[in-house]
Amino acid sequence: MKVLVVGSGGREHALCWAIAKSTKLGKLYCAPGNAGIADVAECIDIGGEDVDALVGFAKDNAIDLVVVGPEAPLVLGLVDKLEAAGIRAFGPSAAASVLEGSKGFMKDMCAKAGVPTAAYGRFTDPEKAKQFIQDHGAPIVVKTDGLAAGKGVIICQNVEAAMTAVDDIMGDKKVFGIAGNEIVIEEFLQGEECSFFALVDGERALPLAAAQDHKAAFDGDKGPNTGGMGAYSPTPIATPEICDKIMETAITPLIKTMAAEGCPYKGVLFCGLMVRDGVPTVLEYNIRFGDPECQVLMMRWKSDVLEALDAAAQGRLDDITLDWHDETAMVVVMAAQGYPGAYEKGTEIKNIDAANSVEKAYVFHAGTKADGDRVLATGGRVLGVTGRGASVIEAQTTTYKAVDAIDWPNGFCRRDIGWRAVERERTKV
Ligand code: AMP
Ligand code: GLY
Repeated sequence: MKVLVVGSGGREHALCWAIAKSTKLGKLYCAPGNAGIADVAECIDIGGEDVDALVGFAKDNAIDLVVVGPEAPLVLGLVDKLEAAGIRAFGPSAAASVLEGSKGFMKDMCAKAGVPTAAYGRFTDPEKAKQFIQDHGAPIVVKTDGLAAGKGVIICQNVEAAMTAVDDIMGDKKVFGIAGNEIVIEEFLQGEECSFFALVDGERALPLAAAQDHKAAFDGDKGPNTGGMGAYSPTPIATPEICDKIMETAITPLIKTMAAEGCPYKGVLFCGLMVRDGVPTVLEYNIRFGDPECQVLMMRWKSDVLEALDAAAQGRLDDITLDWHDETAMVVVMAAQGYPGAYEKGTEIKNIDAANSVEKAYVFHAGTKADGDRVLATGGRVLGVTGRGASVIEAQTTTYKAVDAIDWPNGFCRRDIGWRAVERERTKV
């Protein structure tokens, strides 16, 4: 098969790395890719959001399957356009992508499907929104309806802060632009968060695995929120019983409802949940693999990844059984100092090879480019250093050994990825 992966982050490096191992693969391309992806795929200089150029490339090169990494091209209708051109694609249509593109749509789908989620209201009128806040009290969560680069969720500890959030989003300032024309206000959920992933072929869903992300920039879950500073999988918060419950209450009913509403879902479905006393409640759905969660899923995934993604794209997941490594996988994100704020670009990273030679470790590139033999940092999140081990503690030891092999004075990482699971493991002994 000839395969094109779209994207340039750590998620896409992990996807390319896993697809490259498939016995079904003939040739692998990635657009636009990065310095690490270039080791396993031919990188094509087309931006991930240049939908027409991507379709043109896929047609000209007789691509058999396009695997779309990030949400932006999905929301722009890349899959619809590829399919109209007769090219198979892994990922949802633009109509189904509204699940991530609009929180109001997502909440309405949950209500229709009976999916357990936080109580909510949708508002275009700030005065009605404020009345809702007065009626419900704090803590309360104010969200922009549309995509706001991960910044459109404001957790408010008191009513005053919630009123200010409504004004910031909907007032003259329009802090989030068009994403703030409508807002969702919802009940604050307590518990521990996890990310759950399933493959979906339009009708059926096949569970992949759960992972736990670490969104705060600094140790102890302190500092500003980021795209994710590290993850591990499996996670003790999502026991096999809880994973079954998530499939039953949050995945299967949603898939059925999406199909009944005329926007069947195909691709990977990423469900973010809060788990409290063994009960999972949905926070959000994303229409793509998580980043950095994808890196640990690919490290654990033993059977043929390309075969499974292709089966999902073709609507025949019934033919697929999946096989996983028994071990725990962990990823630690190395980011440019200053991230998620302003950071310097173009600094040199050395000794990635030394990290890759640590047993059971592998470095996925997220924001890098090659400059001759040198590797330069080009993004905020720059590397995803991954490792596997028999326990969370062993996976953590391996991963940080690889992190410590890397020489990049301009980077930083959290030193406590997996801390909740490590604490649980320690108290068991
Ligand atoms: P979202 O993009 O909707 O998942 O929100 C981003 C983050 O905000 C989540 O990962 C949670 O940490 C937090 N969050 C969102 N909604 C809620 C809620 N209803 N209760 C508590 N925390 C929330
Ligand atoms: N790591 C969370 C996300 O990809 O949205």
